Amino acid sequence: MAKLKVLTFPDPRLRKVAVPVTKFDKSLEIITADMLETMYAEDGIGLAATQVNIHERIIVMDLSEERNDPKIFINPEFKILDDKSLLSFTEGCLSVPGITEEITRPDNIYLTWHDINGKQHEEEPSGLLTVCIQHEIDHLEGKLMVDYLSPLKRDRIRKKVSK
Ligand code: NI
Repeated sequence: MAKLKVLTFPDPRLRKVAVPVTKFDKSLEIITADMLETMYAEDGIGLAATQVNIHERIIVMDLSEERNDPKIFINPEFKILDDKSLLSFTEGCLSVPGITEEITRPDNIYLTWHDINGKQHEEEPSGLLTVCIQHEIDHLEGKLMVDYLSPLKRDRIRKKVSK
């Protein structure tokens, strides 16, 4: 396994839109293992492949306090079930180091994804998973948490991060 370099805002490579995974093979196993190693080494709770300059629709996550519950989401997609039900949460991002901001997102979603063997799963997530999966899917679309903030605030964060 290998620890990968995490790109940081405003690196333009964070803006690339990731393509779906079509092969559930050995190379996918290696990528997800490396992504998990990187996420744990950086003490993050989630990591999208875009953040390590791999532009495929892959997300890893561990929301457990014990850091022993790795999850892998391949080609994740969600639908908003109720756009009036919102949740505000203070988010951080390994690609925007040292910054936390309150972001408001839909609270009621329907999530589908494939596991590492290509088997499809579905869930109506709750709590932290609801927030984290939307944050990570944003990465796959080339979108960052700073995009939810005002241009002024975003500019301030750009200066702070690049110091
Ligand atoms: Ni992030």
